[in-house]
Amino acid sequence: MTVRTVGVLGCGLMGSGIAQVAAAAGYRTIVREVNESTLQAGLDRIRRFLADGVARGKVTEDAQNKTLGNLTGTTNLGDLTECDIVIEAIVETLDEKRAIYQAVEAFVRPETIIASNTSSLCITELAAGTGRPHRFGGLHFFNPVPLMKLVEVIRALTTSDETNLALTSFATSLGKEPISAPDRPGFIVNRLLVPYLLDAVREYERGLGTIEDIDKGMKLGCGYPMGPFTLLDFVGLDTTYYIANIMFEEFREPRFAPPPLLKRMVLAGYHGRKTKRGFYTY
Ligand code: CAA
Ligand code: NAD
Repeated sequence: MTVRTVGVLGCGLMGSGIAQVAAAAGYRTIVREVNESTLQAGLDRIRRFLADGVARGKVTEDAQNKTLGNLTGTTNLGDLTECDIVIEAIVETLDEKRAIYQAVEAFVRPETIIASNTSSLCITELAAGTGRPHRFGGLHFFNPVPLMKLVEVIRALTTSDETNLALTSFATSLGKEPISAPDRPGFIVNRLLVPYLLDAVREYERGLGTIEDIDKGMKLGCGYPMGPFTLLDFVGLDTTYYIANIMFEEFREPRFAPPPLLKRMVLAGYHGRKTKRGFYTY
């Protein structure tokens, strides 16, 4: 299967990164948002990231211009008709994801592959809600997408060999390292990462140390690039809480249960960097 045009649904934290790497890899990329202001905020994030890359000497001006030249933003789903692959990176809600697949399927060709960047939802369940369960799979990127090399490729029970191969080749063509992960909550990476982050919150609540000291400990003692609380704020407390609930619902193991403090911070609207307040204030 030859991919020329890539559609991205959602231009938030992840969608903007996915659109950026697709455009940088030379694909004509169309990213769709719900309204003009969220679209412009997402496109601005891409422009800032590229400009920062140029300032750091990591991205050439030519590559910056080519990437931006390959990229189109839209609020109109009808602009996605020519897409060979559509990657969905909208909010982590089953109903919203299902609704957007149905809406997109009214415009794209029957052979177009749809992939979800979901962190925790069941890929087989998402696939079953489309009219193309064989041409659907999970393509899980990591934040920040332009810098993190990994992509998890997840097969639904219904995903065809051809679709799985196309998704794996597509991830490689973006300069990423694909790994194959099972259709189980958290796939491989979040299955191990999320219990660690939840444990940090639980132990903080039990008085293990200050937020700053726990972060410093894991950073300087173990060489982690970010301590757990910095990472929680970076990923989003709401996203982590959502993932934890889905994992706990499926496995019923205490290590996946969201700690009371995390729940309350989410309810209070302290979602991390994106709301300017999480375990730290921004
Ligand atoms: N364009 C190009 N390159 C850039 C850049 C830009 N705008 N910004 C930074 N870089 C480069 C830097 O030049 C640097 O390159 P070198 O290593 O070659 O020098 C590298 O990227 C790192 O940048 P910095 O030195 O400025 O920053 P850092 O060392 O603090 O790293 C980070 C930043 C990569 C985000 C690092 O902190 C990190 O890896 N954090 C952990 C992130 C993580 O765990 N992500 C996964 C979250 S879980 C998830 O995503 C899944 C889910 O479902 C929730
Ligand atoms: P986000 O809130 O930053 O962005 C979501 C964007 O989707 C918003 O800009 C919203 O306006 C837009 N949106 C909502 N409905 C839409 C629709 N119908 N059409 C187009 N756009 C729509 O969220 P995010 O952190 O980018 O997460 C997106 C997806 O990626 C989720 O499924 C999440 O679980 C997954 N994910 C997140 C991370 C992370 O670290 N945050 C990592 C990997 C995967």
